[in-house]
Amino acid sequence: MSEKFIIEPSERLVGELAIAGAKNAVLPVLAAALLTRGTSFIQNVPHLSDVESMCQLLESLGAKSRWDVGNGDLAIDTQNLLTHEASYELVGKLRASFLVMGPLLACMGRAKVPLPGGCAIGTRPVDLHLKGFAALGADIDHSHGYVTVTAPKLRGAKIYLDFPSVGATENIMMAAALAEGQTILENCAVEPEIVDLANFLNSAGAQIRGAGTDTIKITGVNQCQLKGTEHSVIPDRIEAGTFMVAAALTRGDILLNNVMADHVKPVTAKLKEVGVQVDELETGIRVRHAHGQEVISADIKTLPYPGFPTDMQAQFMSLLATAKGTSIVTETVFENRFMQVGELKRMGAEIKIDSRSAVIEGVDNLAGAQVAASDLRAGAALVLAGLCAQGTTEITGIHHIDRGYCRLDDKLNGLGAKIKRVECE
Ligand code: UD1
Repeated sequence: MSEKFIIEPSERLVGELAIAGAKNAVLPVLAAALLTRGTSFIQNVPHLSDVESMCQLLESLGAKSRWDVGNGDLAIDTQNLLTHEASYELVGKLRASFLVMGPLLACMGRAKVPLPGGCAIGTRPVDLHLKGFAALGADIDHSHGYVTVTAPKLRGAKIYLDFPSVGATENIMMAAALAEGQTILENCAVEPEIVDLANFLNSAGAQIRGAGTDTIKITGVNQCQLKGTEHSVIPDRIEAGTFMVAAALTRGDILLNNVMADHVKPVTAKLKEVGVQVDELETGIRVRHAHGQEVISADIKTLPYPGFPTDMQAQFMSLLATAKGTSIVTETVFENRFMQVGELKRMGAEIKIDSRSAVIEGVDNLAGAQVAASDLRAGAALVLAGLCAQGTTEITGIHHIDRGYCRLDDKLNGLGAKIKRVECE
């Protein structure tokens, strides 16, 4: 049975909240566990449906997982892998499952994974992942909707990425961890999740240097050198950013714990630009905006890290929808990531899309309406809009939100929001 949110306007959101582990860090770490033999103990694992789907996929490949959801501890035993083939049903549930390709290729000499289809935010090709595997010596075959990569032995290579793709950097880094010799990966992604993955692999016995810079050097090790390890997942910078915007939108006062101030810098800078107060404290980040105070317009361009994250674009647009003046939001990372715009317009926002930019004329108030979440971050943007809209907002398609936010409704309600989760008739 599908569920929906019914949101009544909130007072100021006030209080303290601990941010969960990062979805985009734990998914590659789980895929990377396939490279190791033994059991890895992962801490600070967020309770998300995407993590459940990744565990199901790893189990279908022969791994065993034990997840203490309450404590956020997940043990993953990858001693005996059974197959190099990932099933269509499981891979279809989340795109990040394509990240099992690099590890399977490296440790089994072969991987067969369904080609990920398009999704709500665009076609999302995997050509850069495959070019990287080919450079490491793999043969690539596309047939019947599957990609099969084969290489009895991977050899280190110099690889230049045309675009600093997060997934391609992770997939190639994982495959190169067991390749013979050195791989130099240039123009790679520098997101904090890449550093977290490299830290996990290095603690398992890999030799990866330079993660977090645009050149990563990987010296391949023997498979038997990668053992199960312990790792604590970094905090989710996008969940943190979402609550920072919630504080601004409701003229609230929220203290976020378990957050890395450096990782949310681009969001902090934009919030300050629109007039919101953000303070880095020893214990976390405090975001507040005085009652009756305006938010002023700003222009945003999404970019790879450390630029403004595309994963925060939709949520920030909800804030700009009621800012004073005209804002321009330009999406440079994905070609079709304005799915929230039509729904925000149903709530009274004045937004025009011109190619890859959205021009937003701030209005005094948004109005509650029946809207649908088309994807994870677009859904979060609608929840934020609903907090400050006049009247009732009803959001369907909230399974998208549950993929990447652990009980967003409960966490917001804990700060004073009025969100009900009900079954759709
Ligand atoms: C990851 C994040 C996602 C985030 C995105 C950009 C995870 C699980 N997901 O997705 O939340 O929005 O980074 O920060 O970490 N591209 C190609 N060819 C490729 C690969 C990518 O053209 O082979 C393009 C994509 O279509 C897109 C751009 O590169 O336009 C960025 O994509 P990428 O960085 O790969 O995003 P993901 O790893 O899929």
